[in-house]
Amino acid sequence: MDQLLVALDVDTAAEARALADRLRGVAGGFKIGSRLFTSHGPSIVQELAERGDRVFLDLKFHDIPNTVAGAVNAAARSGAWMVNVHAAGGAAMMEAARKAADQEAARTSRPAPLIIAVTMLTSLSDAMMETIGIGHRVADQVERLAALAQASGLDGVVASPQEIALIRRRCGSAFAIVTPGIRGAGDAKGDQSRTMSAGEALAAGSTYLVVGRPIIAAADPRAAAERIAAECAASSS
Ligand code: C5P
Repeated sequence: MDQLLVALDVDTAAEARALADRLRGVAGGFKIGSRLFTSHGPSIVQELAERGDRVFLDLKFHDIPNTVAGAVNAAARSGAWMVNVHAAGGAAMMEAARKAADQEAARTSRPAPLIIAVTMLTSLSDAMMETIGIGHRVADQVERLAALAQASGLDGVVASPQEIALIRRRCGSAFAIVTPGIRGAGDAKGDQSRTMSAGEALAAGSTYLVVGRPIIAAADPRAAAERIAAECAASSS
């Protein structure tokens, strides 16, 4: 299923490769985040991209514009299909990310990676907002940051499925919404607080679903991914 991105949150390239081999065809792409990237480096991104897999490089860049531009350029060179930055880095940082991706695409005549902004981590809840110095609700902050990301030329945002409706209202139908925090009725929530099932998230207007533990920690990851794909097909028919 094109819209299902599986988070390869494992420690070794061998485990990531084995999961990708098992899930190819049912997953629409693979997300490589800070855990695998820190332990293994960019070669696993290149390897999967060279096999034709769509790789979402989830390193949530958040730094001064010049540094983020350099990181996005490196991500584009590694063959990543989607890259993300933190919207809280501000408009100049997001514009620098956009420009770096476009310049590298023009130089190589390849499509630019999608550049997506993280709004608020899906592990944060309203109760935690004050502890990080934000005096309003998660939803208000998400809406503000999504609008800023769009005005900065980005392709979409990462957000909790519970925020899809307000982002769609504010940013329109062409803006990509990537939603982690996907949990079925029987799944452990773990550290996620703002969750929804895969079918509900798609029906609400999610563009891509990011699913990690419900698939990769299952006894049979392919069967778990197929169940999610079937649930999505049922919800869109
Ligand atoms: O295992 P689980 O399904 O919770 O995995 C969700 C994935 O999405 C993790 O790799 C996590 O780092 C990532 N993510 C998230 N919330 C965000 C951005 C990314 O959970 N806002």
